Amino acid sequence: MHLVTTVAGVRSRRRELWRAGRTVAFVPTMGALHAGHLSLVDHAAGLADEVWASVFVNPAQFGPGEDLDAYPRDLERDRALLEERGVRLLFAPSAKEMYRRPAVVRVAVPELSAGLCGAHRPGHFDGVALVVTKLLNVVQPEVLVLGAKDWQQSVVIRRLVDDLDIPVRVEVAPTVREADGLAMSSRNAYLLGDDRERATVVRRALRAGAELIMAGERSRATVEAAMAGVVAAEPPARLQYTAVVDPQTLVPRDPIAGPSSLLAMAVTIGTTRLIDNLLVESERC
Ligand code: PAF
Repeated sequence: MHLVTTVAGVRSRRRELWRAGRTVAFVPTMGALHAGHLSLVDHAAGLADEVWASVFVNPAQFGPGEDLDAYPRDLERDRALLEERGVRLLFAPSAKEMYRRPAVVRVAVPELSAGLCGAHRPGHFDGVALVVTKLLNVVQPEVLVLGAKDWQQSVVIRRLVDDLDIPVRVEVAPTVREADGLAMSSRNAYLLGDDRERATVVRRALRAGAELIMAGERSRATVEAAMAGVVAAEPPARLQYTAVVDPQTLVPRDPIAGPSSLLAMAVTIGTTRLIDNLLVESERC
């Protein structure tokens, strides 16, 4: 595996691949890799000749007081895991390499970034949109592979790729879960002692919402209140938001209608913020 830390280095390797007529599926990450990331790599392997990945903790997507400094980093471990999985190139730039000077250009998808996580993390999706646009311009992959756990992120990125005519196919791979249902996340490493078990409250709340919809409930308020009730029963877990939205537009569904609805939520346990979602096929119920 090539470990490349510069934009010029990635471009040079990319030119070689074009000459050889080989395609790239790209998995962008912030490192601290877990089985969820590795499943994205496996997904990508079937979609192009080579899988490339990046590890970059993007300062632009962290707000003041968020966990940028504490975010887990272990490049040597990440490198070994990716190599074992058959990744052919790892791009691991420094912040200085990615942002050679303060960016004055903004990339934003405001309609899709305002609600859900965006309402609680102002500027977060602008930071994601900026770095993903830059990464796509550097790597120029044929396929971009994202995870369904970050559903809103995938909707934002699909739209920016479409609106900016970026020639890449966006693939979203399913969420990978621990045995007890907790969605895999680099931030799970922050959960210590009883908090790890309490974290299953997110999945339990989503399931409670889904069961109501499958039983015929069509009131968004009722479903969201039921999800909130599950979280309220598990202090010190605290609800940040629950939402029942159209999976493509992220517009709230009220009443709940259409072929499928996305249940999404964020919960904090201490200083750890957990997000997850569940797609419910409402029309068949
Ligand atoms: O999902 C992530 O890990 C990040 O938001 C991404 C897409 C790598 C951009 O920094």
